[in-house]
Amino acid sequence: ASEARAAGGRERPLVVAHRGASAYAPENTLPAIDKAAALGFRWVENDVQRTKDGELVVLHDDSLRRTTNVEQVFPDRAPWKVKDFTAAEIARLDAGSWFSRAYAGTRVPTLDRYMRRVEHNHENLLLEIKNPGLYPGIERQTLKVLAKEGWLDHRHLASRLIVQSFSADSVRAVHALAPRVRTAYLGRPAEGDLRRYAGFADLINPSHGTLSAKYVNAVHAFTGPHGKPMKVFAWTVDDASRARTLAGYGVDGIITDKPDVVRAALPAA
Ligand code: G3P
Ligand code: CA
Repeated sequence: ASEARAAGGRERPLVVAHRGASAYAPENTLPAIDKAAALGFRWVENDVQRTKDGELVVLHDDSLRRTTNVEQVFPDRAPWKVKDFTAAEIARLDAGSWFSRAYAGTRVPTLDRYMRRVEHNHENLLLEIKNPGLYPGIERQTLKVLAKEGWLDHRHLASRLIVQSFSADSVRAVHALAPRVRTAYLGRPAEGDLRRYAGFADLINPSHGTLSAKYVNAVHAFTGPHGKPMKVFAWTVDDASRARTLAGYGVDGIITDKPDVVRAALPAA
């Protein structure tokens, strides 16, 4: 615990740029994490999925349709699922124009390319394994890429990386394969189930609307797999007054598309 907490005070929640600073640059792209860094933020969140030929890429939806020009490039390939396209095909797509002309030509990043940019920017990563049911073995594969890029060394594990998923099975798999990696479960387990989650998750990350001070306290009362009190990161909070309320509940992190708005809303540390 920090001095602030030991003294009975509260730390400011960590601000995490959701899909990068995604209110200001196309989500889950390199410009989005560059923008987070430029605004002075050190934590970014992303979503990882797998192509037809087994490459890990950073994209939120299971379809390429919303955030790329796939419909124009491959008009007869509906419903344009990530898993039905090769990495080379995805590399041809424009993942920036849908957001703004200023980002035309931005690509869907592969996970290894993305990791290099996170490192280059001196950022930390909340990595979400998205739709793991569609991609058997994605946990092991993600860890392999992280290891190759140097993210499973001691320095990164201690403070720079958290792996999360909406699937408890997926979080459990990551914990079993790489017990030193910090993990988060995306959701809000019943208080009576928290003890079980404490066996494999360091954090509980619920949708902010499901939270209360009582629930945050209940999570904090458990010790996670790395011997520290479990933490709570709330998502996705772009509203200043809501961010203040959540800080009052004692959340440890706020995941937001507008990190600058949330930072300005929070009381000084
Ligand atoms: O990090 C939490 C948040 O990203 C979960 O929801 O749909 O934005 O991936 P989603
Ligand atoms: Ca996510």
